[in-house]
Amino acid sequence: MSRDHQETSMTTLNEGAVTAALKDVQDPELGKSLLDLRMIDQILVSGGDSVTVKIDLPTYAYPKRERLTAAVRSALSAKLPAVKTVNVEFSVKTKGKDTGGSLGLRVKNVIAVGSGKGGVGKSTIAASIAYGLHLLGAKVGLLDADVYGPSIPHMMGVNQRPAIEEKTAPNGQKVNRIQPIEKDGLKIMSMGFLVPPEQAVVWRGPMLHQALTQFLKDTEWGELDYLIIDMPPGTGDVSLTLSQLLGLAGAVVVCTPQQVALLDAVKAISMFRTVKIPVLGIVENMSGEIFGRGGAQRKAAEMGLPFLGEVPIDGALCVNGDQGRIVDNFAENSPARAALLHICEQVAMQVVRELASGPAMPTLEIL
Ligand SMILES: Nc1ncnc2c1ncn2[C@@H]1O[C@H](COP(=O)(O)OP(=O)(O)OP(=O)(O)O)[C@@H](O)[C@H]1O
Ligand SMILES: [Mg+2]
Repeated sequence: MSRDHQETSMTTLNEGAVTAALKDVQDPELGKSLLDLRMIDQILVSGGDSVTVKIDLPTYAYPKRERLTAAVRSALSAKLPAVKTVNVEFSVKTKGKDTGGSLGLRVKNVIAVGSGKGGVGKSTIAASIAYGLHLLGAKVGLLDADVYGPSIPHMMGVNQRPAIEEKTAPNGQKVNRIQPIEKDGLKIMSMGFLVPPEQAVVWRGPMLHQALTQFLKDTEWGELDYLIIDMPPGTGDVSLTLSQLLGLAGAVVVCTPQQVALLDAVKAISMFRTVKIPVLGIVENMSGEIFGRGGAQRKAAEMGLPFLGEVPIDGALCVNGDQGRIVDNFAENSPARAALLHICEQVAMQVVRELASGPAMPTLEIL
């Protein structure tokens, strides 16, 4: 390289040149430009030939960061020959929409986990998505809204009841605030703490609506990246209430591989669509020799919905759920660990995809 040329490229190596070189780099997961997604937080040039690109990821569950690193490196080496070293640094700013509405919730993403029928592993998957997102670094709450069969406290090994504290509201009024139970890094609440399930069975829409509203409003969730809601199976009442109260990020539908279960899943999907809750995709649970495999993936493709992953049928999952140790499904030697983490990534990325499908990535940051 001639001396002249070298000087030119050295003087042009600045933040603007690096930004221009990154202009066409797409996020490999989202298929949109990093600039449009507002993922580039900072560009630092030092020593004339060294560049640091600081990238904000939209979720802790962002998978395969190395692909993004490679895309940035190859764009810079192709367009800016003067660059000798490239550092790509990541931080996470969880994206979300204004979910709180009139409830004043400071939760970036509310995700409902539902199914068409009972017993398909909805609570197992809801608790696992919550715990997996926590493991990946997010602040997560888990709400058991299955008034008819609240099982989250049991599965998470929670045996105390939440404390209720009297607080003074800004207007001077005394209000009761419910403290969620903190267990394994999650903030956990169950409708079963307030409403005995045998009583809830006979409840109709308006009573459920009132209880759920009060429950969401009076709980001290604090600031959360995700609130995962274990929904009651089948009924649309709770979904309707939630859709009226909150801007949900979307719903995950859990089903087992058999045909009948798939038909129920289709009903759940149409129920969520009726109440205008976006369906994030389908999870197949209990895949394997007993119920078969692949049915949910085919159904998802048929319905134009994302397939979020499958969890094998395995006695260890059953035992862990029964003994209040659902977090053990994430142990290094657990047969479900990889599958569950994959589902967490898929769910979180689908939420981001929904957000990014608008004209520009929302800049809203609650924290
Ligand atoms: N992949 C799996 N392999 C083996 N057992 C599982 C698996 N997933 C869930 N289970 C077990 O199946 C039973 C039902 O699961 P779970 O309670 O999560 O389902 P649900 O859909 O929430 O049921 P309900 O309708 O009663 O609320 C539980 O005993 C659970 O531990
Ligand atoms: Mg359940």
